Amino acid sequence: MEISSGLEDVYIKHTALTSIDGEKGVLRYRGYNIEDLVEHSTFEEVAYLMLYGELPSNERLATFRASLEKGYVLPDYVKKIISDIPRSAEALTIYMTAFAAMSAAENDFKWSPQTDKQKSAEIIGHAASVVANANRHISGKSVVDLKPSGSYARSFLEGALDRKADAKEVRVMDRALILYLDHEVPASTTAALVACSTLSDMYSSVAAAVAALKGPLHGGAAESAYLQFDRIGSPGNVEKWFNENIIVKKQKLMGFGHRVYKTYDPRMKIFRKMDDEIVKSPEDRNMLQTARKLEEAGVRQFGPKYVFPNTDFYSGIAFKAIGFPVNMFTALFALSRTTGWLAHISEYNESEPRIMRPRALYTGPGPRELAAVSNK
Ligand SMILES: CC(C)(COP(=O)(O)OP(=O)(O)OC[C@H]1O[C@@H](n2cnc3c(N)ncnc32)[C@H](O)[C@@H]1OP(=O)(O)O)[C@@H](O)C(=O)NCCC(=O)NCCS
Repeated sequence: MEISSGLEDVYIKHTALTSIDGEKGVLRYRGYNIEDLVEHSTFEEVAYLMLYGELPSNERLATFRASLEKGYVLPDYVKKIISDIPRSAEALTIYMTAFAAMSAAENDFKWSPQTDKQKSAEIIGHAASVVANANRHISGKSVVDLKPSGSYARSFLEGALDRKADAKEVRVMDRALILYLDHEVPASTTAALVACSTLSDMYSSVAAAVAALKGPLHGGAAESAYLQFDRIGSPGNVEKWFNENIIVKKQKLMGFGHRVYKTYDPRMKIFRKMDDEIVKSPEDRNMLQTARKLEEAGVRQFGPKYVFPNTDFYSGIAFKAIGFPVNMFTALFALSRTTGWLAHISEYNESEPRIMRPRALYTGPGPRELAAVSNK
């Protein structure tokens, strides 16, 4: 009997959402290249594409946007829960708590092909409000509802940062939301699917996904990669740091490596280019130059093993340049990926719903006589 450790090469569902060619470094959503979507579409259009299968007409987009905006308003009890969480909490803990709390209204949940997509849009709206308020709360600001602005990215940014966002910031946020939107079935999406396969409600399934996203080997990698640049400090320190920590101490280079990509992650190349466009301050520029130098060292060392930079290597620099603290990076990833989780939940429920129940191969002791502890 073969065990697939890490579920490597185990296929758990069919999907028409995302295809990855890990050898060539190609990523497509519903057949469209990620580069084209980022260049020519908005997050709302791509979210619609993923949920419904085709890009929307203007009329359908307007209806979809109205559902997203409906979700900008959180139930009062959820706003209170966010306000009451210690401000020291991780942003993702706030996200998970708010979503677990919203499942309070789902006692009678029954998945329905007629209503679940509209519900998904409202949940995506809630996600923007929850993550924006997580940023507000941990930076000492009050919890508010997001304001409709004609752009999901703009409404999110202006709520989260409590200021007007300029066109460049909105475009970078919008593209980041597209880039992180879906990636087939990594740990978090698998966790969402395991939860939904038991007929759990959509909010609880998203909360399960967030729990799996939290770790540094998955969603937390952008934060770890950025902190790595911060520790290095400047491009001139890269070679020495790399040698001491990665070669001698054999630490993992964060933001490098991927289960599926055996070449450059195409999303990473887009983030790298966006970083160049968005960084303004000398500190952020220094961080980007440090990252570029580290990328060179990493590829030289690990390229022969097919380990290359992934999307998390450069995303944090863009998020920081927009104005987010490092401890928000994973929550920004979650915000974008919520659409992917919901699209996969829909797809699973529509096509092949079956409870996920794998097996474990028993390797413990054989049958034994029980001696009660009190007789020993
Ligand atoms: C993403 C990741 C978890 C994939 O793990 P995986 O598919 O189980 O791959 P493995 O850990 O088996 O890696 C295969 C080989 O590459 C090496 N490798 C992989 N990622 C590495 C990294 N970031 N730094 C150094 N070596 C790495 C492994 O040590 C292993 O070498 P070996 O064959 O000599 O033992 C792993 O690459 C990683 O931990 N990366 C850092 C965290 C990260 O950036 N996560 C974001 C993913 S989008």
